[in-house]
Amino acid sequence: MRIAVIGTGVVGRTLAGRCAELGHETVVGTRDVSATLSRTDGDGSATVADWLAANPAVRLLDLPSAGGFGELVVNATNGAASLQSLAGVGAENLAGKVLVDVANPLDFSRGFPPTLLVKDDDCLGEQIQREFPDARVVKTLNTVTAAVMVDPGQVGDGGTTVFLSGDDAPAKALVAGLLAEFGWRDILDLGDITTARGTEMYLPLWLRILGARNSPQFNIRVVG
Ligand SMILES: NC(=O)c1ccc[n+]([C@@H]2O[C@H](COP(=O)([O-])OP(=O)(O)OC[C@H]3O[C@@H](n4cnc5c(N)ncnc54)[C@H](OP(=O)(O)O)[C@@H]3O)[C@@H](O)[C@H]2O)c1
Repeated sequence: MRIAVIGTGVVGRTLAGRCAELGHETVVGTRDVSATLSRTDGDGSATVADWLAANPAVRLLDLPSAGGFGELVVNATNGAASLQSLAGVGAENLAGKVLVDVANPLDFSRGFPPTLLVKDDDCLGEQIQREFPDARVVKTLNTVTAAVMVDPGQVGDGGTTVFLSGDDAPAKALVAGLLAEFGWRDILDLGDITTARGTEMYLPLWLRILGARNSPQFNIRVVG
């Protein structure tokens, strides 16, 4: 499958790297290719240029080119900027495509822990679906840290739960197949895109568990 991951942060790189390893033709989209290639990350981690050198199968493209390439598009951009980023990709490049949304609408403007930019009776997944009505939005993976997204065996012997929300059943089935390729076995379809309110509003608890355990390497499992 041709996959376009929009976003060059840790999530975008992690998902794109794994998709390429799995044999999918994969590109990453960014607002300004040359600016991103010359960016030096403040935290001392590998730069995007270093990462691309280590992942030669992945190409870095501008947003419309990436969107045009992908049969499946992943939104791995900052939640506060996702609508703007996807507008840069272009509605015409998202029409009819499965749009996997892994972003969280976190507001860091008042420090840590962040609050939610949208909640209760709306969510980012719904905002994206409303803004791009011809895209087939599937919200998933936003409840786990990047490394666990593509390697669920890192926590709970691989037996933890990942969620799906979206209005389009075939799109959710396609995404469930990709999740299974990543190693997910417990995939819980919550229902339509409004159910993404639940997984986005889990973030305040996720952040407190992070604080209590001092590590993002965890997940939850639904039992009953
Ligand atoms: N970190 C995790 O483990 C984790 C886990 C679950 C969900 N998420 C969610 O996944 C998304 C990506 O997270 P991340 O940690 O990889 O990186 P991030 O810092 O939240 O997002 C970085 C990406 O957002 C894009 N972006 C576009 N407009 C922006 C703007 N005005 N300001 C800042 N960034 C902008 C950047 O694009 P350019 O390439 O053009 O600079 C960059 O690719 C977020 O929504 C996050 O909440 C993260």
